[in-house]
Amino acid sequence: MEILKTEIAKNKVPNHIAIIMDGNGRWAQSKGQPRIFGHKNGVNSVREVIEGCGEIGINYLTLYAFSTENWKRPKIEVKTLMSLLVSSLKKELKSLQKNNIKLNTIGNLNDLPEKAQKELSEVIKKTENNTALTLTLALSYGSRDEIVNVIKNLSKKVVNNELGVEEINENVINNHLYTFSLPDVDFLIRTSGEKRISNFLLWQIAYAELYFTDTFWPDFRKEHLFNAILEYQNRERRFGKTSEQIEKINE
Ligand code: FPP
Repeated sequence: MEILKTEIAKNKVPNHIAIIMDGNGRWAQSKGQPRIFGHKNGVNSVREVIEGCGEIGINYLTLYAFSTENWKRPKIEVKTLMSLLVSSLKKELKSLQKNNIKLNTIGNLNDLPEKAQKELSEVIKKTENNTALTLTLALSYGSRDEIVNVIKNLSKKVVNNELGVEEINENVINNHLYTFSLPDVDFLIRTSGEKRISNFLLWQIAYAELYFTDTFWPDFRKEHLFNAILEYQNRERRFGKTSEQIEKINE
C-alpha cells in the first residue's frame, strides 16, 4: 500500500473528489445481515477515505450521504441512518480537529431531524477555521432540487431589480448553488457497479472524470482510493481542447 501511495504524483491529485457511496445494502445482504449492518460498516470506509485524502493532500471531498429520494426508504432505515450520522459526528469531532478538517454540508438541512441539525451545526462551527481538507456531506441533497432553488432565487432578484437578466452567467449560477464555496468536481467515484449519477452534483461535474468500481462501499479502503487516483492521473483532461493544445500547456 505504501508503494501504491508513492506512485501518486502529489502535484497532480484531483483538487475536489466526490463520491457516491453505494452498495451498503447489497454488501450486508450478501452476508445474510440487515441493510443497516452495511451502513454501519460504511462509516469505516468514510473514515478510511478521509484519512487517505489527508495523506495525499486532497483539498475537497464531497460525500453523497443521503439523497432527497432516500426519504422514501423504510422508516427504520432512515432513522438508523440519521442516528448513525449523529453518533459518527460526536465520535469523530476530535479526529476532525486533530487532522485540520473542516466540515461542510449541502442539501435541505431543514428536512433533517432536529438532533442531526444541531450536531451538524455544532461540528461545522467548531471546525470552521480548519484548513487542510474540506469535507462536505450531501444530506437530503438532490441536484435538480438545488438547480430549481437557484432559478427561484435568481428570479426573485430579477423581479426585485437586484439583478439584470443579462448579468446572469455561469459565475452567478455557481454562487447561488449549495456548493458556492467549493471548486468544480475533478473526480467522481461511484462504488458498487452502478453506472449512474443519481441526481448528484449535475452542474458541478461538467468536466469531472468519472470512475466506477464494482467494490461495495463497505469494502472500499484507502488502497481502492489510491488506485482510483492513479487511474485519474493517467487520463488526459482536455476541457474541450485538443491533445496537442494540452501537451503544449504542459510543456
Ligand atoms: C448507499 O448504499 C448508501 C447510503 C444511502 C448511505 C450512505 C451512508 C453511510 C456510508 C453512513 C453514514 C454516513 C456518514 C457520513 C457518517 P445503499 O443502501 O443504496 O446500498 P444498495 O444499493 O446495495 O441497496
